[in-house]
Amino acid sequence: MSKYRVQGGNRLEGTVRIGGAKNACLAILPAVLLSDEPCRISNIPNISDALVSLDILEALGARIRRIDKSTVDIDPTSVSTHEVPHDLARQMRASYYFLGALLGRFGEARVALPGGCNFGVRPIDQHLKGFTALGATVPAVVTNGMIDASADCLIGNSIYFDVVSVGATINVLLAAVKARGITIIENAAKEPHVVDVANFLNSMGADVRGAGTDVIKICGVQHLHGAEYSIIPDQIEAGTYMACAVATGGDLWIENVIPKHLESISAKLIEMGAEITEADDAVRVRMNGPIHACNIKTMPHPGFPTDMQPQAAVLLALGDGTSIITENIWDNRFRYIDELRRMGVQATVDGKIAVFQGVPYLSGAPVRALDLRAGAAMMVAALAARGQTEIEDIHFIERGYENFVEKLHAIGADICRIDIPDAVARHA
Ligand code: EPU
Repeated sequence: MSKYRVQGGNRLEGTVRIGGAKNACLAILPAVLLSDEPCRISNIPNISDALVSLDILEALGARIRRIDKSTVDIDPTSVSTHEVPHDLARQMRASYYFLGALLGRFGEARVALPGGCNFGVRPIDQHLKGFTALGATVPAVVTNGMIDASADCLIGNSIYFDVVSVGATINVLLAAVKARGITIIENAAKEPHVVDVANFLNSMGADVRGAGTDVIKICGVQHLHGAEYSIIPDQIEAGTYMACAVATGGDLWIENVIPKHLESISAKLIEMGAEITEADDAVRVRMNGPIHACNIKTMPHPGFPTDMQPQAAVLLALGDGTSIITENIWDNRFRYIDELRRMGVQATVDGKIAVFQGVPYLSGAPVRALDLRAGAAMMVAALAARGQTEIEDIHFIERGYENFVEKLHAIGADICRIDIPDAVARHA
């Protein structure tokens, strides 16, 4: 029941360092299970979802040694069970990667249906279709909330995905790297974290080619060896700070990024009037003057990422005219707009389309983080608003933003985290 209290209106200035990519990390940690030797993974973000993944590995029997705050050694050789504890799997969406990884390691996996952020139906039929194509048996109907997948022997095959799915692409990749023969994934997702997972697998001796394009070819190998691997920087964490700079008329250097991964975000912020300078592993975002209205359509990579949609919406809500956002990935990702209305946002939503009528300023208010990126949007709005905002349900935000309060404070935000003891919260 903790919350963030933000006194809005400060111009953010200075340098912020981005952590490792959540959505790469949440696949790379389970991928370690496929190795016959220990691995050292660095640039792990300090977020609750990463901690849950490490807890799952430990519960499966892996030995974990923390080297420093973002590096761990993981020895998967002692893992002997293929069942992920229900209570851990339910805590996050990405627990589904343990299905592919355990199936690849043992030919058997038992994982509870994943939890995670709620923004519409989140099926995993394409994951299961991929496992089936590799020869696994998967449940026609889920019973007791568990998914069981098993195979005597996984055999490479061609798989065409009906939708572009990050999760299904990575999950099939995990199951296929040690399958017998060749697997071809068509209509694969091209996100940077798909490429990062493939690079990690290759660093352990896998033979994965074409990641980053829509056709991925995997030649199965028998063994994977240990590796040292550093996770790529988080595209969406970086994008969120870029949005914070624009919202507050600020000037931020955002370090430890891959500017190429930020191009679709930068392009829209430039349209809104921001000045963006790229360096090798940093971008500078400066904002002077009004935010220009524009239209955004979310698309799979290299399009504008859906995970930046709510944060971008706050900017357009402050734009100098009418803007339209079309959400093409998720069915129900505009729920947060009701929360933003409390702060003065004027918008109408019709299905996958939201129309924003720009207002000159937002006013602080008590709001809730309805999911991770919705929570990030509340933060962008709170930083820009006049007056004080309190954001509740911040456990969603802390699933994906490391040291958010500390990082924002260091660049000039007036922000604190208020911890309410559970007993007090229950009686509030
Ligand atoms: N879909 C299906 N069937 C499937 C899988 C997906 O129909 O079997 C549909 C979904 O309903 C959705 C679309 O395909 O309409 C894309 O879903 P995808 O599988 O790509 O999403 P995901 O893998 O579950 C990951 C990220 C999300 C991000 C999406 C889209 C992780 C752990 N999560 O989810 O990130 O929004 O890709 O880029 O990698 C976040 O970080 O806040 C977050 C929600």
